Amino acid sequence: MVNAYLDAGIQSRMNRIISPIDNRVVMLAIDHPYFQGPTTGLRDMSTTVKTLLPYCDCLMTTRGAVRSNIAPEDLGSKPIMLRVSGGNSVLFDDLSDEQVTVSIKEAIRMDAAGVAVSVFIGSANQQRTILNLTDMINSAEEYGIPVLAVTAVGKDMARDLRYLALASRICQDAGARIIKTYYCDEFPKLVEWVAPTAVVVAGGKYSSPPDALEMAYNSVQAGAAGVDFGRNIFQDDNPVGMIRAIGAIVHEDHTVREALEVYSSCLPGARKLD
Ligand code: 5RP
Repeated sequence: MVNAYLDAGIQSRMNRIISPIDNRVVMLAIDHPYFQGPTTGLRDMSTTVKTLLPYCDCLMTTRGAVRSNIAPEDLGSKPIMLRVSGGNSVLFDDLSDEQVTVSIKEAIRMDAAGVAVSVFIGSANQQRTILNLTDMINSAEEYGIPVLAVTAVGKDMARDLRYLALASRICQDAGARIIKTYYCDEFPKLVEWVAPTAVVVAGGKYSSPPDALEMAYNSVQAGAAGVDFGRNIFQDDNPVGMIRAIGAIVHEDHTVREALEVYSSCLPGARKLD
């Protein structure tokens, strides 16, 4: 039976982002240059996109990167989660002073499947960033576009359940359809407290294949819809192996050991990305 109250535009875009078959997603985060400039692995972003696009379900990136780094023939092949907040750089210690940087009209024009806004809970700019999120949700929902909220963590904030659940729940209450946050101890509680909102887990700084894969495994086993990893994929010596191993964990429920076998099978011919 057709649900008369179903928000068809939102649902259709959510289905492009998170597979309705298994409710999971491998999102590839390559939005780092918006505040970090030429990040290792993203200096030659066109090659990074060409190499990894076939293996991700969704690409989280910026307006400039879509224009400059996705080949015309690849546009539309994977949904774009467009980052629409920014306004700072690593040259400042405090990165929280963000504003909305891309209009909803532009996001629609670019065929974004969703838009992403960061909030910096507990920072000097907490209110500004929550209002960035709510303002964007107000405009995006009008056009059936889901908003992903990123719970950015300032240098002085603990990445613990108390903080991340607080930030995530604020994002849910604001109306975010997807929450991107960090893995922490007792992570299943966080997922439970924001259910049924989908949660994707950020990778953080480059660690190692076993550690990153374990985080991906624990995240989905805890109920996360998937991961939105960046540096742990594109800064690895075997980036294709890494994203394929993550895909095996997210979509095929592989164990870490099985995923490491997928990783190793891609080692011959692996090429580091610049
Ligand atoms: C930071 C972001 C990043 O751009 C993205 O999450 C970084 O991904 P990773 O930590 O896996 O490299 O959204 O708030």
